[in-house]
Amino acid sequence: MRKKIVAGNWKMNLDYNEGLSVFSEVINMINDEVTGTQEAVVCSPFIHIHSLVQLAKGQNRISLGAQNAHQAESGAYTGEISAKMIKSVGAAYVILGHSERRQYFGENNELLAKKTDTVLANDLKPIFCIGETLQEREANTHFDIIKSQLVEGVFHLDTTQFSKLVIAYEPVWAIGTGVTASSDQAQEIHAFIRKEIAAKYNQTVADNTTILYGGSCNPKNAAELFAQPDIDGGLIGGASLKSRDFTDIVKAFN
Ligand code: PGA
Repeated sequence: MRKKIVAGNWKMNLDYNEGLSVFSEVINMINDEVTGTQEAVVCSPFIHIHSLVQLAKGQNRISLGAQNAHQAESGAYTGEISAKMIKSVGAAYVILGHSERRQYFGENNELLAKKTDTVLANDLKPIFCIGETLQEREANTHFDIIKSQLVEGVFHLDTTQFSKLVIAYEPVWAIGTGVTASSDQAQEIHAFIRKEIAAKYNQTVADNTTILYGGSCNPKNAAELFAQPDIDGGLIGGASLKSRDFTDIVKAFN
């Protein structure tokens, strides 16, 4: 059975103390209220990760992640953070290919394929984001776009490597806009992604791949989205900054 995951993406929000206090509240609420086997992942800015890992010691349902990693192992890349560094502070996951990285930092599928290799080589699990823009959906090219993001970004991996991935479908038009994909729209794409994984690898790999939905997911719409057969959780931006909202989304699986 594939894992159910609710991952928070704090983006460039919360200073050090604010982050610690939101995360402490999340730990307490999850311990008190979450009854299922779902995993909560918090992808914070780099500066928080080490301290959050210390706070999460002994919590087997809560993991930490980063929001990006450089493709090189190390070297003269001023201002960058390597996968090895992220691993060394105890994170388990790294978000790769978020649409904001693609849009504002020019990250393309070719670069993301390299980043995926480096993250996996450092024994971290990529949360690999794919999704179409509004223009691409309106032009009816969304299936082609998603397929090419998979083929060029991650389908070079062998079966063992691919099995470590989490995929996140995030329609760009739904991110931070308050417009959520309907559960039918999201399910349609998730089923398509799973079918492509089965065609490239095999049905078992496809059935075991966790596919998250992201884009204006909130405590009100999470349960309906997560009830879809191919939606295995969420990647949560804005709502992950509030401990109450984030925990309520995690609880959508209770
Ligand atoms: P949002 O962001 O929940 O604020 O729409 C989701 C994401 O970008 O991962």
